[in-house]
Amino acid sequence: MKNSIRSEGVAIIGAGTSGVVCTKVFRQQGIAVDCFEKGSGLGGLWRFENDNEVGGCYRSLHINTSKRVMELSDYPMPEHMAEFPSHSEIVRYFDDYADHFDVRPHIRFNTEVLQVERCADGSWDIHLRGPAGEEKRNYRWLVVANGHHWDVRMAKFPGQFDGAQLHAHHYVDSTSPYDFRGKRVVVVGSGNSAMDIACELGQAARASSGPVKVFLSQRSGVWITPKVLGNMPQDKFIRHPMKRPGGWERFRRRWIPRAWRLSLSNVLSEYIVRSVAGDPRRVGLKPPKDRFVARHGTVSQDIHARLIHGDITPKGNIVEMMGDRVRFEDGSIEAVDAIVHCSGYRISFPFLDTKLISAPGNNIALWRRIFDPRYRNLMFLALVQPKCSMMPIAELQSHYLAQYITGRYQLPSVARMEAELKADQETLKAQFIASESHTIQIDCDEYSYHLYEELDRGMVRAKAAA
Ligand SMILES: Cc1cc2nc3c(=O)[nH]c(=O)nc-3n(C[C@H](O)[C@H](O)[C@H](O)COP(=O)(O)OP(=O)(O)OC[C@H]3O[C@@H](n4cnc5c(N)ncnc54)[C@H](O)[C@@H]3O)c2cc1C
Ligand SMILES: NC(=O)c1ccc[n+]([C@@H]2O[C@H](COP(=O)([O-])OP(=O)(O)OC[C@H]3O[C@@H](n4cnc5c(N)ncnc54)[C@H](OP(=O)(O)O)[C@@H]3O)[C@@H](O)[C@H]2O)c1
Repeated sequence: MKNSIRSEGVAIIGAGTSGVVCTKVFRQQGIAVDCFEKGSGLGGLWRFENDNEVGGCYRSLHINTSKRVMELSDYPMPEHMAEFPSHSEIVRYFDDYADHFDVRPHIRFNTEVLQVERCADGSWDIHLRGPAGEEKRNYRWLVVANGHHWDVRMAKFPGQFDGAQLHAHHYVDSTSPYDFRGKRVVVVGSGNSAMDIACELGQAARASSGPVKVFLSQRSGVWITPKVLGNMPQDKFIRHPMKRPGGWERFRRRWIPRAWRLSLSNVLSEYIVRSVAGDPRRVGLKPPKDRFVARHGTVSQDIHARLIHGDITPKGNIVEMMGDRVRFEDGSIEAVDAIVHCSGYRISFPFLDTKLISAPGNNIALWRRIFDPRYRNLMFLALVQPKCSMMPIAELQSHYLAQYITGRYQLPSVARMEAELKADQETLKAQFIASESHTIQIDCDEYSYHLYEELDRGMVRAKAAA
């Protein structure tokens, strides 16, 4: 192992879309930064056949948040790009972005962060394995951007199943890594992976080039929003997080209680979705169990068509595995060859000692979803599940952190952070359902509004302390 190298700068773990944006923002603010990426390319999840061993991109993946909500504030997605582009277009956009802002020289590709240790002086020792072997480097600041959609959570059902089981993360297409042709398949879940994969398999079944039967097994009913609502993308009314809230929004947030705002938004959203897509029960799906605003959005342009054409057979939850058959909660038993678990992910940081920080049951209490109040130089990036797009949230967080690292923003006291964190956890509990898929859920407008407010307050604190 090479000798330890010391840096006053920042180490970023991961060059997915979040790490790339952060590296660019920090460099523009003159911050010394090294971003470590275990794969040979950037873009993380969006890079199809990524060699980082944690890629989860299927061949037919398209974004489900529109491009205007996903694009970065100073680099618009080109006009010729589709409204909901494919993974290859998204990676091309980020490759171009990295080239345009000269980000690549600050990313060390093929370099995995094996372990991170906190030193007695509070700095971070980073153990790396790269093309030249293992080495240790020391940094004052650490940004964790390793993504939270790669450590799979399989659904567990009583009994034993003799067929094939795979997680959505490993699904590539209807013949890979498992050949679904001529098979009877159950897709488990009500989230976006379940919708995409069930629709693709259902379409292949219709074309006689895939499974002979596709079941969609739901534990919970959900509202399913089409990607476009008439002439509008489904996220038309979400403010781009990099745009500061205007006067009307500030007025609303200040004078109308949050519960009232949420109720109004809920009534309108449910009305619009019901008017455009109909009640899920009409196409045989379970009735939505929770309020629209209480869940992460399930978005699908195709599911209703696949259901009304009979390409997918809706089912309730699996209650028993019976060798080569499966029993559902309505008592029906079906012969099944394969199950695709679209059952979500675990939040994990394999390079961090669990005594330092971890997320058991996906629970991790972070102030502003960035800081554990105990560590003022450890920052988590994009560790949120936004109702808008992840990329501009990462951009906003990066701008906020750049102000902090350059001393123009000061954090509040630990006591205040802890008190606010407690209140934030209560708000989260009051709005979103208790589920492992919703522990880091955010409402984008609300989140960015409060982060701007906090930024302004902390800049005043920093000035006063100077
Ligand atoms: C199928 C799917 C579709 C999605 N669609 C959308 C969408 O339409 N809109 C949206 O906003 N969000 C979507 N998301 C959410 C998605 O997580 C974000 O869009 C975004 O890609 C997350 O980027 P990231 O950089 O935070 O994480 P990732 O893309 O996971 O990148 C993390 C990077 O860190 C690297 N890394 C991890 N550990 C180490 C280590 N120890 N050392 C070095 N490098 C490491 C990985 O190789 C990877 O490149 C989707 C998620 C899934 C699963
Ligand atoms: N095209 C796209 O842009 C796209 C595609 C795929 C994914 N994504 C994104 O990727 C993220 C992950 O989505 P995801 O769909 O993979 O996961 P998810 O949102 O976490 O959904 C998991 C689903 O599995 C169900 N489930 C979990 N455990 C179960 C069990 N034991 N038995 C039965 N059902 C169980 C959950 O039901 P309960 O609700 O009852 O818990 C839920 O419906 C989201 O942010 C999503 O938006 C985007």
